[in-house]
Formats: sequence, C-alpha cells, structure tokens
Amino acid sequence: MATPLSIIKRSLSTSAVRQATIKNVTIIGGGLMGSGIAQVSAATGHNVTLVELNTDVLKKAQAGIQNSLGRVAKKMFKEKPADGDRFISETLKRLRGVTSAEEGVQDADLVIEAIVENMDVKHKLFKAIDAAAPAKTIFASNTSSLPISEIASVTNRKDRFGGLHFFNPVPVMRLLEVIRIPETNEETYQAMMAWGKAVGKTCVTCKDTPGFIVNRLLVPYMAEAVRMLERGDATARDIDTAMKLGAGYPMGPIELSDYVGLDTTAFIVEGWHKKYPDNPLFAPPEKLRELVKQGKLGMKTGEGFYKHSK
Ligand code: 3HC
Repeated sequence: MATPLSIIKRSLSTSAVRQATIKNVTIIGGGLMGSGIAQVSAATGHNVTLVELNTDVLKKAQAGIQNSLGRVAKKMFKEKPADGDRFISETLKRLRGVTSAEEGVQDADLVIEAIVENMDVKHKLFKAIDAAAPAKTIFASNTSSLPISEIASVTNRKDRFGGLHFFNPVPVMRLLEVIRIPETNEETYQAMMAWGKAVGKTCVTCKDTPGFIVNRLLVPYMAEAVRMLERGDATARDIDTAMKLGAGYPMGPIELSDYVGLDTTAFIVEGWHKKYPDNPLFAPPEKLRELVKQGKLGMKTGEGFYKHSK
C-alpha cells in the first residue's frame, strides 16, 4: 500500500506534466475540501485564488493550509528542513485569498466550487460567476451528492462544466473522480483529466449518477454499519476493528463517519432517500439523525459516535 510520503512524492513528480492550459485555478469555499484542493493546486505550481465569505474565514482556511503543508513538508524534507520551509513559502506565495467570487474568477482557467451542499446557494453562485468569468473558464463542482447537471443548468457554459470530486483529506487521498454531464465537451473533459493528473491524483471517470463511484458504495456501507450498531449486533469498536483487520480498510465505517462528519453523511443519505424512497440502501439510520440533531457531528465537534480529543 502507498504511504502518505510516496503519495506526496508522486504528486510532486507528476507536477512536471502539468497541462499548460490550466494555470490559474479558483476555488470557491475554504472549508476542509476547498482548502485541501487549494493546497494541492498551489503545491503543484498553479496560481490559486481562494474565495471565502469574509477575511476571518479566509484567515482560518489559510492557517489550516499552512498547518497541513507543514505536515507534508515534515515528511517530504525530513533531512532538509530548510527545503521544507522553502516549499511551504513558495506554495503559500501562489495562493491568494479574496472575498468576492466575481473578482476571484476574473483570470481563472478553472473554477472549482466547494461550498455548502445547497442547490439554491450553488445556483446563485454559478449564475453570478457565469456572468463574470471569461468564456474560456471551465467550471466544476466538488459536490458529494448533488447532480452536476442540475448545478450546471443555470449557466450558459454546460459544455465547459463538469464534476471534480476529491476525498478527505485531500492532500493524502490519491483519487479524483471526474464527472461528465452529457453536454461536457471533449476538450473540457480532457483538460479536467490532465489537471487532475497534474495535481498528483489518479483520475477515474463516472457518469453524473448519485454518489458517483466512491460515495455510491461507501455511504450505504457506512449507513449499514450504523444500522448494525442500532440492532446491537456488535459494538462500534468491534465493527471498526473488523473492517480494518478483516477487510484492510484504513478506518472502520463508524470512525470514518466521524471523520467525514455526521452532518455530511446524513445530508447525503437524506437527500438520496428523498429522491429514491424505495431504495433500502439509502434509508437514513435513526441514530445518525439523532446525533446530528444533538450537534454531535464527529471529529469537528469533538463528539460523534466516539468522543475525540483535539
Ligand atoms: N494534511 C496533510 N497531511 C496529512 C493530513 C492532512 N490533512 N492528514 C494526514 N496526513 C498525512 C500526514 O503525513 C500524516 O503524518 P503526520 O503524522 O506527520 O501528520 C499521515 O498522513 C498519516 O496520518 P496519521 O498518522 O494521522 O493517520 P493514518 O496513518 O491513520 O492516516 C488517513 C490518516 C490518511 C486519514 C487514513 O486513516 C485514511 O486513509 N482514512 C480513510 C479516509 C477516507 O476514506 N477518506 C474518504 C472519505 S469519503 C470522502 O471524502 C468523500 C466526501 O464526498 C464525503
């Protein structure tokens, strides 16, 4: 199995084949996913603009990126800390923050949206940036579960629109799902694939279907683990231990739910359940609803299925 260090080294070595057409990348949303995408883009030589609602949130995102870059550099430049410091400062130099999406997309070759999973909010954003961005700019969404076609429907560039779905933690996870909608033109698809490779990811392609590949398989599996817990079949610890030692997963399904965020997992299953009420794989587990209602969202709030220390 590849170690995080080999992943990062691989990521840097592939930066040499960066596609010339995508140089300026704008990420809208500086949460965990948006920050991670901004980080890997800047670390592989792209000029990155990160858009957030205000300077306080921007500062928080930039601090998170700096911290994560520190972890990467520590491993990558174990013997040469000065080179590590240079790597961090050069990466940060390629990263700027702005608070206006319209301003942020002015010179973008590629815009990736990683904001809240709400269709109305996404539509409002894409309408605004469609009017502000140059015609050449490719738009993409990092949505986990909403249809890309529906997000793209408010723009006049459906041929230059697709999905770029990353995984948490972005600097470590090697996969990028590239989603085509029927209108996505070949040039856009090829540019997205080449850019994914340039930021060190292995790209897979999937149609615009619920959950694409990974979440379509992973989310029902995580939900079934919660149902197993509800039935009293096994403890959370034993379910996690079983899947780590018996199936070779790096995390068990219950700890992964806490890691991803119970609100995120719940949002995905609730949305699918509403749309496909007859599919038992998408039935939301009661325990998940309960914990979300109590504000126990997993690692980010300090408690989910487990208690977490910072
Ligand atoms: N930034 C930079 N480097 C990081 C990092 C981050 N945020 N998180 C981990 N790392 C690197 C570091 O090099 C770290 O070493 P360090 O000790 O020097 O910091 C190294 O990874 C190993 O990390 P840890 O020692 O903390 O722990 P693990 O070896 O257990 O690895 C893990 C952590 C990579 C998260 C691993 O447990 C894992 O792969 N878990 C499964 C994650 C997964 O399935 N993600 C997909 C979720 S689904 C999703 O994202 C889709 C969305 O739509 C919901």
